[in-house]
Amino acid sequence: MSETAPSGSAYDTTFDHRTDEAARADQFGRWDELRNACPVQVNRTSAPRPVWYVLGYDEVLTAFQDWETFSSDSVEAFEPDEAYEKKKRWIPVEIDPPMHTEYRALISSHFGPKAIAERADDIRQLACDLIDALASKGRIEFVAEFAKDLPTRVFLDIMGMPVDDAPMLLAWIDSLMHTKPEDDPDFAIRLGVRKKVMGYLAAMLADRRADPRDDLMSVIVTEPLKSGRPMTDEEALSMTFQLWMAGLDTVANALGYTFRYLAAHPEQRALIVDGTVTPREVSEEMLRARSVVNTSRVVKSDTELGGCPIKAGDRVVLSTAAANRDRDEFEDAEDIVFGRSPNRHIAFGAGRHRCLGSHLARLELEIVIEEWHKRIPDYRVPGDATIEDHVGSVSGLTALPLKWDVTD
Ligand code: HEM
Repeated sequence: MSETAPSGSAYDTTFDHRTDEAARADQFGRWDELRNACPVQVNRTSAPRPVWYVLGYDEVLTAFQDWETFSSDSVEAFEPDEAYEKKKRWIPVEIDPPMHTEYRALISSHFGPKAIAERADDIRQLACDLIDALASKGRIEFVAEFAKDLPTRVFLDIMGMPVDDAPMLLAWIDSLMHTKPEDDPDFAIRLGVRKKVMGYLAAMLADRRADPRDDLMSVIVTEPLKSGRPMTDEEALSMTFQLWMAGLDTVANALGYTFRYLAAHPEQRALIVDGTVTPREVSEEMLRARSVVNTSRVVKSDTELGGCPIKAGDRVVLSTAAANRDRDEFEDAEDIVFGRSPNRHIAFGAGRHRCLGSHLARLELEIVIEEWHKRIPDYRVPGDATIEDHVGSVSGLTALPLKWDVTD
């Protein structure tokens, strides 16, 4: 409990998940240490206003569900005041009801179970092709060469964006989501990239408005909201931008953590290979124990959470990474138990903003776990590898070298 010091009924901390060296070395162990010390803590040092870390399962769930007190008006807790005031809200993730409901309804059927199930065969074929092409290599950088590739191609297909632009789009998402705060203290790099992405997406949306096709970008620019009007150019751009961020950066990160763990645990891999556990059981447990999203909320009225007095205007970081390893909710929470039951993890959030892409994400994860282990059952991280963990609002491994024996 070195960073935490009692201050009334709350706890003060200097912890900042984006820069904390201990978290970079052992992210999930660090969340455990902090949450076990105190499920709600406040950092009054590194942002223009107090930022509360909400780490306990019950507390995170409460904040997710109480959208009136914990508003989604911004999901970036550490942004400067000026950026907060000026920025265009991301749609739907930074919009509160009632408008949120309208926006979400416009696209939700495209990510629903039926629409995603219809894509399953194509996604499986793509996964098989990509893995087959890698199998004879014997050594790859898993994040760049596979984990990002598959979800990006699937997402670009859904949106109707050219797959040839994938390398550029991935470089942009990397700068935007994984630039270290100490390398970009005034947000200049990230704001610059955001501008480029916006220009790219705006041009593509203008094209779809003039010439609609059978893709999600065309839906976004042509279909009316429930109130009867189509979205403005600005709304359409904001929605496309948020989908783009969510579609490119999340599944890739979940795959990175999953394969890092499996590479180091041959006994767990054997359960997959011999069919003792299902791909669903593996992916659900990995989603729980290696959750990638630490989202944020703006507090709209004075309240109390976990016994801590939180003031209107404060920000809260809702760490699904910490909450999903809470011993009060999960037995032997720090252990990875495929087939754990119950497993009420909140890796996809909860309440109004619960992840719209969860069916797609689950399908991709399950297909990869199944098809990879059919082809490459035995693999490891080379002994000389150093692995860097980027801890942020969406966390992920910067790179993951993997090695396996190839026999002809
Ligand atoms: C393992 C993969 C994924 C994880 C762990 C994940 C997690 C989350 C979480 C925790 C939220 C809630 C954020 C908040 O309340 O502030 C969220 C929202 C969202 N996710 Fe995902 N996500 C994943 C994949 C995807 C994919 C592939 C897409 C689709 C392109 C997607 C689209 C969205 C959207 C649109 C929202 C906002 C929903 C709303 O505001 O109503 N996600 N996701």
